[in-house]
Amino acid sequence: MVHSLVTGGAGFIGSHLVEALLARGQRVVVLDDLSTGSLANLERVQGNPRLRFVHDSITNESCLNELLDEADEVYHLAAVVGVRRVLTDPERTVATNVEPVEAILRRLSIRPKPLFLASTSEIYGKNPKSPLAEEDDFIFGPTTRSRWVYACSKAIDEYLALAQHRRDRLPVVIGRFFNVAGPRQVGNYGMVLPCFVDQALAGGPLLVHDDGRQVRCFAHVVDVVYAVVKLMACSAAYGQAFNLGSDTPVTIRELAETIVRLVNPSAAIEHVSYEQAFPPGFEDIRCRIPDLTRVRQTIDYRPRCSLEDIIRDVVAWKRREKRSELRS
Ligand SMILES: NC(=O)c1ccc[n+]([C@@H]2O[C@H](COP(=O)([O-])OP(=O)(O)OC[C@H]3O[C@@H](n4cnc5c(N)ncnc54)[C@H](O)[C@@H]3O)[C@@H](O)[C@H]2O)c1
Repeated sequence: MVHSLVTGGAGFIGSHLVEALLARGQRVVVLDDLSTGSLANLERVQGNPRLRFVHDSITNESCLNELLDEADEVYHLAAVVGVRRVLTDPERTVATNVEPVEAILRRLSIRPKPLFLASTSEIYGKNPKSPLAEEDDFIFGPTTRSRWVYACSKAIDEYLALAQHRRDRLPVVIGRFFNVAGPRQVGNYGMVLPCFVDQALAGGPLLVHDDGRQVRCFAHVVDVVYAVVKLMACSAAYGQAFNLGSDTPVTIRELAETIVRLVNPSAAIEHVSYEQAFPPGFEDIRCRIPDLTRVRQTIDYRPRCSLEDIIRDVVAWKRREKRSELRS
């Protein structure tokens, strides 16, 4: 039986990945400090005898090493995420997003095993090209703007992992997630889709930043997890970075309008400036569309869920959460 270690497995994407791995009959150990994740995310699988939860930090190297040694494969998703957390604590972002990756790579250089590394579309920074392909340039803003520390931290992870692949043939797959959304994603850390759904369910208004003409592509977490698992099983994917997400663009204003239509047609939409919405150091990216050619050619990946599917699933999950809160 394959034994997988999932760091950040109590998080939004991680918990869906854990479910997918358990459904394949694997044994799964989750390492999570519950800083942004939650045990409730693992509720559906909590009684599964093939699941073990370890409440600790990836910065605890001896715990990490022990779990790495026991595993046959590793999915590294734990990280400081969300614009607000990154802006307010850049040092913690580096300590959490870079040092544990160095520790993982050190251990895997002694005992190599397949590693999935969660990266991000933020890595392209301000590159105006559209769509963005994996070999396109990273263009970051100045170091006085803390938002870029998240992209830089993930870029360093990629450099280190790719170097180890070149040197030791480490079987590593890098996934650059583009706006993954779905049930269990919370709006507290600045994720736009769950924020808008919360605002619509609360009666509005939906607060759109700036002019709302920013362009994004939203992918259902289930589609993305499917790609992650398939890439890890594909030796041709090792040593490469992949854009993962959807390539169907929508403006943020259109996203707000779709959520209003599906969730609460009487909710208003209002615009707020970036200065009103974020602490200093914020800088937005106007357009982010992935070129999915590489992942399509490697695993024949095609996202199946539409934006409306994602919104309906998020709303259904929020309503279930509300009902169980009221019961308890
Ligand atoms: N959701 C997206 O659209 C998106 C986009 C780009 C990249 N990513 C990347 O995907 C990964 C998962 O993100 P997510 O959206 O599921 O966020 P999430 O916050 O739900 O998941 C992160 C998990 O890591 C855990 N964690 C954080 N610091 C930890 C530490 N020191 N030790 C142990 N656990 C720790 C958190 O408790 C949480 O459960 C992250 O690496 C993130 O950078 C996500």
